[in-house]
Amino acid sequence: MLLYFSVKMKHLEKDLSVASLHRELRTKLVGQNILYYPVTSSTMDVAKQAVREGAEEGTIVIADHQTAGRGRLGRRWWAPAESSILLSIILHPDLDQLPRLNMAAALAVVHSIEKVTGLRPVIKWPNDVLIEGKKVSGALIESDVQDETVNSAILGIGLNVNLDPSSIPEISETATSLREVLKEEVSRLEMLRSLLGEFEELYSALHQGEPIDKLWRQRLETLGKRVTVRYGEMVEEGYAESVDDDGNLLLRRPDGSLLTIVAGDVTLQV
Ligand code: BTN
Repeated sequence: MLLYFSVKMKHLEKDLSVASLHRELRTKLVGQNILYYPVTSSTMDVAKQAVREGAEEGTIVIADHQTAGRGRLGRRWWAPAESSILLSIILHPDLDQLPRLNMAAALAVVHSIEKVTGLRPVIKWPNDVLIEGKKVSGALIESDVQDETVNSAILGIGLNVNLDPSSIPEISETATSLREVLKEEVSRLEMLRSLLGEFEELYSALHQGEPIDKLWRQRLETLGKRVTVRYGEMVEEGYAESVDDDGNLLLRRPDGSLLTIVAGDVTLQV
């Protein structure tokens, strides 16, 4: 049985109040239903179960702590309790919009960080958000597609708001948080409210066929750089020349051939 937002929320009251979030949200779709968990395995799993139980599009799942948070490419997502935004959004995009959800997610994070903090993050292909070269946010999309129909897509976003990267050996060298950069606490409530608003705007633009890929490209710091791309056993090196309409990375190899990369982890060559 799912817990709706009327459950006791003492863990969130420190800065994230679901009740106030619900009251203050200006969105029409995203966040109209809020499922909150003080602790869960992964908001992705809760969202999947909610889909099975008929939760409507725009339902969000938020948690203060995940015991098995997951990232892209089979990695873990690390976040001490109450340090971060740990969010999943249930969506029903059309098939042709699915590849662009990545773009909407990364841009929504970038825009909301800019609006709330004044920082100017960039995007590392495909949807990592970086500040001062370190990762502050990542997004994961898990979709259920059958016969060219998207039954559901769950967008998961992790945003390091007040996390202390040095407390987590696995990410201490590569991650940052808004608090680490600004040297002061940031309200998770304010960030989440802004993030949901920005995402709804971009998702609606996507539905109306507006070219959000142009905005995404402008913030993509990967282009024009020599990079190494890893995916499982595959390692490719080359020049990150461009991205196609679906957001795939076009890598110019040393032998001149052009490789289309759908998924992978990019590092800049030094
Ligand atoms: C990545 O950069 O690898 C994607 C990270 C996605 C993490 C978020 S946190 C909320 C949601 N629940 C999860 O288990 N993962 C996503």
